[in-house]
Amino acid sequence: MVNYKELGLVNTKEMFAKAIKGGYAIPAFNFNNMEQLQAIVKAAVETKSPVILQVSKGARNYANQTLLRYMAEGAVEYAKELGCNHPEIVLHLDHGDSFELCKSCVDMGFSSVMIDGSHLPYEENVALTKKVVDYAHQYGVTVEGELGVLAGVEDEVCADHHTYTNPEEVIDFATRTGCDSLAISIGTSHGAYKFKPEQCHVDPATGRLVPPPLAFEVLDGVMEKLPGFPIVLHGSSSVPQEEVETINKYGGKLEAAIGIPEEELRKAAKSAVCKINIDSDSRLAMTAAIREVFATKPAEFDPRKYLGPARDNMEKLYKHKIINVLGSDNKLAQLD
Ligand code: G3H
Ligand code: 13P
Ligand code: ZN
Repeated sequence: MVNYKELGLVNTKEMFAKAIKGGYAIPAFNFNNMEQLQAIVKAAVETKSPVILQVSKGARNYANQTLLRYMAEGAVEYAKELGCNHPEIVLHLDHGDSFELCKSCVDMGFSSVMIDGSHLPYEENVALTKKVVDYAHQYGVTVEGELGVLAGVEDEVCADHHTYTNPEEVIDFATRTGCDSLAISIGTSHGAYKFKPEQCHVDPATGRLVPPPLAFEVLDGVMEKLPGFPIVLHGSSSVPQEEVETINKYGGKLEAAIGIPEEELRKAAKSAVCKINIDSDSRLAMTAAIREVFATKPAEFDPRKYLGPARDNMEKLYKHKIINVLGSDNKLAQLD
């Protein structure tokens, strides 16, 4: 058993309280590999932003949970080496689907876990979330619960329809489970295909598809019931069309990939939404850069020559999110 504090990590408690007060959101970036992690840490250090490193169950299976844990520990040291003396880095389990998985993450040094019981009947979600909270809180590990179902494919959790969070349930859920933050459903969804083209209208200025707005009235309802309680948005990639175009230009085939407009995320970040999850955009940035190298330099076979540009492109993306969308730059408690 190792406690996250021994690894130099922090939990989400103070980070979220400050973010709500300050009207910004903490970036929660998923990672599976070294280049993603390097790009995230560099972006966070250079913008002086707190950051949440997210590991999904799929990532644990792909990269090996022990290796990921040591990588997160290495991330703290890397941040210091880059000149950030007081990094604020959370290692978070994304979409935990069982008590055993959450417990195993707590035991191996994660500072935050999500238990996603959103697909369960309400009472079962409450019971499972409470069980995880009771265990995690003994070690200072913070817990994210979820109420309401996102459309699309979550890691091991499927839902082919949206069920927006019911604001009437949130007080009961938060009180009975003791969770530290709550992921809610207001129309975001996972992946690069968040909306069907027929749900969108065409922006005459750019010719691009504009999706219907998020259900901010649901968020307002939740904030009214739970003033100051930390809210989380999953499925918040914006699916940058430049990356989609690069992928398609160099042999990819992404058709009608549509994300959440940045203006909507900017608006959400100013509210009680204090954690915004982004994974797909990083995948797109990585794939676009790799495809471009493969297509323009077909003789290249040194992985550093395509993973390097991929890493640079992801770093650019992360910095853009931090500075221009979430507003978490220059928010470290100690900036030196
Ligand atoms: O919410 C899902 C995340 O994007 C993780 O995706 O299960 O493919 O690792 P993954
Ligand atoms: P995106 O697929 O929109 O990046 O969402 C990621 C996410 O919610 C991870 O939990
Ligand atoms: Zn998610």
